[in-house]
Amino acid sequence: MPTTEWNRKIWGEKHTWDHNGDEWEWMAAHCRQPYAAWKGSLVDTLLAPGATGCDVLEIGPGRGRWTEHLLEHARTVWIVDINQNCLDHCRERFGDRRGLRTHHTSDCGMEPVPDASLGFVWSFDVFVHLDEDVITGYLDEIARILEPGGSAVIHHAGKPDWTLRLAPLTRRAGRPGKVVQRWVSQRRWRDDGNRSDVSPRAFADWARAAGLRVTRQRDSWGDRGQYDVTKYRDCITLLEKPA
Ligand SMILES: C[S@@+](CC[C@H](N)C(=O)[O-])C[C@H]1O[C@@H](n2cnc3c(N)ncnc32)[C@H](O)[C@@H]1O
Repeated sequence: MPTTEWNRKIWGEKHTWDHNGDEWEWMAAHCRQPYAAWKGSLVDTLLAPGATGCDVLEIGPGRGRWTEHLLEHARTVWIVDINQNCLDHCRERFGDRRGLRTHHTSDCGMEPVPDASLGFVWSFDVFVHLDEDVITGYLDEIARILEPGGSAVIHHAGKPDWTLRLAPLTRRAGRPGKVVQRWVSQRRWRDDGNRSDVSPRAFADWARAAGLRVTRQRDSWGDRGQYDVTKYRDCITLLEKPA
């Protein structure tokens, strides 16, 4: 499982942020779509409907790949990251458009954000690398800061639940066991995309335990389901805070 320390180092020190982080051509290619169409459809289908006219918060903005679009649609925007240099970069790129506010968190705390103050929370390509403690911490925080009726869209790892239950067995088999585990849980022999061991079912259970309603879980969108996040078997969960 990628740890908080891993996340701090990779995104804060090692990652090169090619094209300002707009580097998901490989996911678009996986579903045989141009990257601009893949990204635009994600914005139109999942980001804009939640963000429009709301006070919003983004967890893990990186270089602002999605912040740019939140700033187009939202009333005000908070961004929260464990890497100060990501927040600094966004501040430099976007100035104080839409009253952009930043919070440097140590793991999942969002203390400066008032209770029940936001209409929408967005996070993409962040929770896929978080472990259970940080995810459940964030879900508690999301439940706290959303206003009743507010919603969230969170992209996370989506390994089938039953495959994760095999992990204690495959772990005992050393390296071959690791390869088998990757194959059953992600249908990949190599390169697991550093996805955490999280299933859609576990994520939904944790969200409900935090007091949130799970309105939908999906891994594709578009009129023919032509856009997806299946290369590493990811999932996108839509949440709502009950009114
Ligand atoms: C792979 S980058 C994705 C950036 C952006 N969301 C995108 O899709 O282009 C992961 C981002 O999440 C941040 N991050 C990692 N762990 C985090 C945590 N526990 N809390 C907040 N941000 C975190 C990293 O610093 C980085 O900005």
